[in-house]
Amino acid sequence: MKQHVLSTRADLPGGGLARLAAQAEVVGWTGTGKPDPADLAVLAKGVSGILALGNDRVDADLLDAAGPTLRVVALASMGYDAVDRDAAAERGVVVTHTPGVLAETTADLTFSLILMARRRLGAARDTLAAGRWDLFRMNDFLGLDVHGATLGLIGYGQIGRAVARRSQGFGMRVLHHDPYAPDDTLSTSVDLPTLLAEADVVSLHVPLTPGTRHLIGAAELAAMKPTATLVSTSRGGVIDEDALLRALRDGVIHSAGLDVFEREPMGHELSPLVAEPHMITLPHIGSATEATRAAMVDLAVDNIQDVLAGAPARTPLPGSPATPGQGTAPLPDGGSGAR
Ligand code: DGY
Repeated sequence: MKQHVLSTRADLPGGGLARLAAQAEVVGWTGTGKPDPADLAVLAKGVSGILALGNDRVDADLLDAAGPTLRVVALASMGYDAVDRDAAAERGVVVTHTPGVLAETTADLTFSLILMARRRLGAARDTLAAGRWDLFRMNDFLGLDVHGATLGLIGYGQIGRAVARRSQGFGMRVLHHDPYAPDDTLSTSVDLPTLLAEADVVSLHVPLTPGTRHLIGAAELAAMKPTATLVSTSRGGVIDEDALLRALRDGVIHSAGLDVFEREPMGHELSPLVAEPHMITLPHIGSATEATRAAMVDLAVDNIQDVLAGAPARTPLPGSPATPGQGTAPLPDGGSGAR
């Protein structure tokens, strides 16, 4: 008899969902948008696996709604801050994510943010699109160079390293701060105060954990150069957004580029961050290419199929077991989950 798997979305890119449906009975959320927890709880009853996105809350209530049949929750996402890992471990449920498949694509977008913010590309494009470009002037849209600048990576995991590789084409000097990553041929390991003081571009690549929440606040922004740019493709909560807005308005730093926000999505209630002229904002599209999003779903499906077939999961969360029924060894806060 086929096992039941809940997919929290019906419209996933690539062929992963169809592959899953060929092997398991997929019960899915068929509405548009994001299901609320009560809907998911009803659908989850008696399933063996759950295929979820990074913004689906996976907590004790959902795990209990599924019940003792549940063996694996596979996120089609690298980030796992919406997962209660302790609750999953207590219930012997394997939780997996998608490292490896999205680093290059997300690093591409990180570099886009760096270029857009430092070269003021948003303002320049908006001026042209609004029909307000009336003359070439030597002083219009003057930005700051990216080539030859110092790049500071906070978190030096797969994505941080992929950003470092790209920076070599721009002749950048690279520093990183990550207690788990020593110097390598691309980058020098430094403490956080040194990185903040020396970097022209600070890029965040840490997961959101209690230890990294508001890692960048007023004091850290004040420690950066007035010509510095801050970018983030990790998670919104790592930056204190109110402090960042004040820093941009007061000229404490030059510019910022954000793909992630504390409150997502922003629809009717646009954050003042979006209107801030020294800020580039994008709607959480770091991994949004056809190939990469399909690969994320594929890896999540592989994880479900392996666990349900009795094999170890390919990419369990850091510190989590690869087979059901084992406890977890929680990471030190903010530890090697670097993105
Ligand atoms: C990730 O993989 O963490 C992206 O932010 C999408 O959830």
